[in-house]
Amino acid sequence: MEQTLVLIKPDALQRGLSGTIIARLESRGLKLVALKLMQVGSDLALQHYGEHAEKSFFKGLVKFITSSPIIAMVLEGNEAVAIVRSSMGETNPKNADPGTIRGDFALDMGRNLIHGSDSIDSARKEIALFFADTEILNYQRGTDPWITEL
Ligand code: RTP
Ligand code: MG
Repeated sequence: MEQTLVLIKPDALQRGLSGTIIARLESRGLKLVALKLMQVGSDLALQHYGEHAEKSFFKGLVKFITSSPIIAMVLEGNEAVAIVRSSMGETNPKNADPGTIRGDFALDMGRNLIHGSDSIDSARKEIALFFADTEILNYQRGTDPWITEL
């Protein structure tokens, strides 16, 4: 089953929105298979956001993601990568549809609450950056057949 990395960013934790964000993703049917509260250090931030190293916003992005704790999680489900991205909404909250996390709770590009992997390939790499294999659990839920037609 497909897995994706989600980060609840420092702004969301500081604003008390972690529970709301997790509830939205869980209610959609995605299964939590790993989760931790953590402080991102500069090494991990540079690795995670390395693709943006040349961009003007990179310094601010690294400063922000290392500024206060985050919650990292791995979510699993059919097409989990695309499903999470659709629940997050557009990167710039101004363009995010109402009903999405960013569209309902955010105003600013640099304070957009949540990260979700943007492809299956980046999900694989990002999950390995944030979690050891032993931290990712394999279990069944009684509701699985009511969420996914097998
Ligand atoms: P994320 O990686 O955080 O899930 O967000 P994303 O895929 O929707 O957006 P991405 O293009 O990967 O950009 C990563 C984060 O950098 C900030 N950003 N600022 N000022 C700008 O033009 C700009 N562009 C991107 C955003 O905080 C974005 O989430
Ligand atoms: Mg991205």
